[in-house]
Amino acid sequence: MVEMFPTIRMRRYRKNEILRRFFKEVYVSTYDLIYPIFIKEGLERKEEIKTMPGIYRMSLNELNKEVEELLELDIRSIILFGIPKHKDSIGSEAFNKNGIVQKAVRQLKENFGDELIVITDVCLCQYTDHGHCGIIKDGKILNDKTLEILSKIALSHAEAGCDIVAPSDMMDGRVKKIRETLDENGYEDVMIMSYAAKFASSFYSPFRDAAYSKPKFGDRKTHQLDYATIKQALREVELDIKEGADIVMIKPALAYMDIISKVKEKFNVPVAAFNVSGEYSMVKAASILGMIDEKQIVKEILTCIKRAGADLIITYHAKNFARWIKEGDDIR
Ligand code: PBG
Ligand code: ZN
Repeated sequence: MVEMFPTIRMRRYRKNEILRRFFKEVYVSTYDLIYPIFIKEGLERKEEIKTMPGIYRMSLNELNKEVEELLELDIRSIILFGIPKHKDSIGSEAFNKNGIVQKAVRQLKENFGDELIVITDVCLCQYTDHGHCGIIKDGKILNDKTLEILSKIALSHAEAGCDIVAPSDMMDGRVKKIRETLDENGYEDVMIMSYAAKFASSFYSPFRDAAYSKPKFGDRKTHQLDYATIKQALREVELDIKEGADIVMIKPALAYMDIISKVKEKFNVPVAAFNVSGEYSMVKAASILGMIDEKQIVKEILTCIKRAGADLIITYHAKNFARWIKEGDDIR
């Protein structure tokens, strides 16, 4: 017997622009984007970061102007990275009430209130003279001693008024410790976005130039994930959720889409992806050399990170993307 069936023609879905739009499943909105800002203590005027064309170390007195620009572009959220004047062995500037991040958060909250979601990166590497993400003894990072400092940093950011703290250190038990500390001090409304699956990656090197946070010896492989692992990444995410993370982040994004997708499927917690410095700089470099079309590539990259499962995307491309939308570019 001959089976009868109609000819399925997939190209019917793609016949013209209106139909293609009709069937799109994924959209990027500027409201899903988080813009990273480097804020440098003692700086008068912003300075461009050599390895990240178009990205600057910002000064406190230019910060409001920068945020006004973001709000006009419908970008409503930033993540702050502090660059302190002074470093020491325990990173004391990181939890100084008058540290650069604490000052920046207070200033932003006074000026913009709930118009802007302020997220703060919680780590030690920009603040320690050895450049590691924790307290060092005999060449090793001490996990539990570091937790005490991390929770002090998170508390100082909450006191300054931040909405979300984002621990990026990858110490064991930091989410639990930070949650407890915030709650004990009346900051139960401050959310935790944990860098849950953060891989030891060479894609961070422009960031380390930008923030002067390269380790003076050794590397970050004893705490950040090995990029050849999957199950460990999922366990890290599971643990952070159990410890109280409100949002879990995967980092980097592009070479880690499988992890984003698995985390999205497995857990019922909002997922963020960090489209990191090296991923940004590769696109910028190729575009400056005329090898690619920056706008088209960035639209594709951000859409595909969403398609993989990210609810939120931290990206240095945010402002450019938002500008293209404002200029009437056909994003959808
Ligand atoms: C600090 C931190 C890093 C990044 C975010 N927070 C660098 C690192 O782990 O060395 C990287 C961000 C980027 O590359 O854009 N721990
Ligand atoms: Zn760090």
